[in-house]
Amino acid sequence: MKVGVLGSGDVAKVLAAGFKKHGHEVKIGSRSPAKLGDWIAQNAGISSGTFAEAAKFGELVMLAVKGAVASEALDLAGAGNIAGKTVIDACNPIDDAPPDKGVLRFFTDINESLMEKLQRKFSDARFVKAYNSVGSGLMINPQFAGGRPTMFICGNDEAAKKQVQQINEQFGWETADMGGVEAARAIEPLCMLWCLPGFLRNDWVHAFKVLTK
Ligand SMILES: NC(=O)c1ccc[n+]([C@@H]2O[C@H](COP(=O)([O-])OP(=O)(O)OC[C@H]3O[C@@H](n4cnc5c(N)ncnc54)[C@H](OP(=O)(O)O)[C@@H]3O)[C@@H](O)[C@H]2O)c1
Repeated sequence: MKVGVLGSGDVAKVLAAGFKKHGHEVKIGSRSPAKLGDWIAQNAGISSGTFAEAAKFGELVMLAVKGAVASEALDLAGAGNIAGKTVIDACNPIDDAPPDKGVLRFFTDINESLMEKLQRKFSDARFVKAYNSVGSGLMINPQFAGGRPTMFICGNDEAAKKQVQQINEQFGWETADMGGVEAARAIEPLCMLWCLPGFLRNDWVHAFKVLTK
């Protein structure tokens, strides 16, 4: 599959390399693609471009930009370039204010998530929340003694979620589908929980797993 990754930070780079590792064709996008030059040189086979070029290239689009500017980044990507496509949304609505005793602050309200705003504005795209509640270093094929961790996902489009489930399997995750886009109100704050041991005890090596009978 052709994957357009929007973002130039750690998450975008890790996921772009992960897609490439699993046989996908990848273009990574930034407002300033030139800044990815060194990274592209070390990651043979991945190309770079603007947000619009990466979005247009992708049959599937991975959104991994600062949450506060996710809407602007998608404007630059172009609504037409993401229409009808699965958009995996790893963004968290983290505020610029520092954490409060290790608890991240959000700029969203508990009754309306970032992904709902994005889905409403870019109504022809098929958003699926995923990869927002684990650190970038553990996103691709993490190894835990307790087995495969759980990736919580949600979104309105069943076919898009099936696609993400298949990617999760490649990336070493089991999937827990939490329903429609509104469930992002619960999934986005999982990043607060995930980060707490990090801020409190410098422990960043963990992932969530759901136990079922
Ligand atoms: N860090 C983690 O381990 C982790 C884990 C899970 C989820 N997340 C979430 O994943 C997302 C990416 O995190 P990150 O740490 O890799 O990167 P980040 O520093 O949060 O975001 C960097 C990206 O944001 C874009 N950006 C910044 N200002 C912009 C603007 N005004 N307009 C358009 N784009 C703008 C940058 O674009 P340019 O390339 O053009 O500069 C860059 O691609 C965030 O939403 C974060 O909450 C992070």
